[in-house]
Amino acid sequence: MTLRLAATPSGLEAAAHILRDGGLVAFGTETVYGLGGDASQPKAVARIFEAKNRPRFNPLISHFPTAAAAFEQVSASPLARKLAETFWPGPLTLVLPRAPGSTVSDLAADGLTSLAVRVPRGDAVQTLLALVDRPIAAPSANRSGRISPSDASHVLEELDGRIDAVLDTGPCMVGIESTVLDLTQPDRPVLLRHGGITPEALEAVCGPLSYPETASDTAPVSPGRMLSHYAPTLPVRLDVTHPEATDALLAFGPTPARGAGYVFNLSEQGSLEEAAARLFAGLRFLDKKGAELGLKAIAVSPIPAQGLGLAIRDRLHRAAAPRPEEGNLT
Ligand code: TXA
Ligand code: MG
Repeated sequence: MTLRLAATPSGLEAAAHILRDGGLVAFGTETVYGLGGDASQPKAVARIFEAKNRPRFNPLISHFPTAAAAFEQVSASPLARKLAETFWPGPLTLVLPRAPGSTVSDLAADGLTSLAVRVPRGDAVQTLLALVDRPIAAPSANRSGRISPSDASHVLEELDGRIDAVLDTGPCMVGIESTVLDLTQPDRPVLLRHGGITPEALEAVCGPLSYPETASDTAPVSPGRMLSHYAPTLPVRLDVTHPEATDALLAFGPTPARGAGYVFNLSEQGSLEEAAARLFAGLRFLDKKGAELGLKAIAVSPIPAQGLGLAIRDRLHRAAAPRPEEGNLT
């Protein structure tokens, strides 16, 4: 049985208590719901992997209430501090050298010498993290390879009975995961994953970014970059301008293409912020609705490849990718 806790003082206390005890609590952040466990307890971390059915070689992000708490676990360069000042709390994850005294377990860091840290935005999540007062490992609260949850009910669809509790903090405001930036290379920051902070915003603070070599499915730099991910049940086609009657259309903008069997518009105003916030809920909804109506596929309208559109296109690209065997996903 998975408890559903309200984000009240007593709900937050209960959630903190479960986490300190080594239990698993999913909670909302500004990006997506995370599946939280105490990163310093290997058993709790092992339970996260088990609940998600996630391959063990994927390192987890550790979450903190403040930059000061995060920087106890890593060696923060001046650039890291500047980025933290600018973007935290917020949807940016920094990969930094793990500090010698780090209390994050090897299992959470996947034995790497680096550690991914982030300070999420949101009153409830910040209160929770402060109450627990330990690094909290939290991958997105979905079963491995599936659509990330942006609402407490999505978490229960994915993980009911597999985790101790979900703290209902309402729908996620950004709706797409954090941007992951690797600061372990001396020469320049490497953008490992597009997300809630745009490359343009980052470059304004830290100058030109590098990008890793193309994602490999076997030995990825950032394993979350593996191709198939966010997979709905129906097949997905991208950049569709002439949908079929058997398509459920994930549309964008004021003039959605005609002809689809069903339409869900990510943003009638053509706002990328609104589209990001509605992306995962929209995919989930169309997957269900399409199956209900006997439709055959999810077709996606073109989305501009700029700003947050880069992160949206990245997620959609993965949702459309050929799917490997179950259990071989991140
Ligand atoms: O918005 C988010 O980041 C959400 C919320 C819950 O905070 N979390 C999330 O976690 O998306 P997850 O586990 O689904 O994705 C973590 C990403 C993966 O791409 C992983 O490979 C990368 O961060 N990562 C973690 N530690 C890393 C490290 N030491 N070096 C490189 N990449 C790392
Ligand atoms: Mg994920």
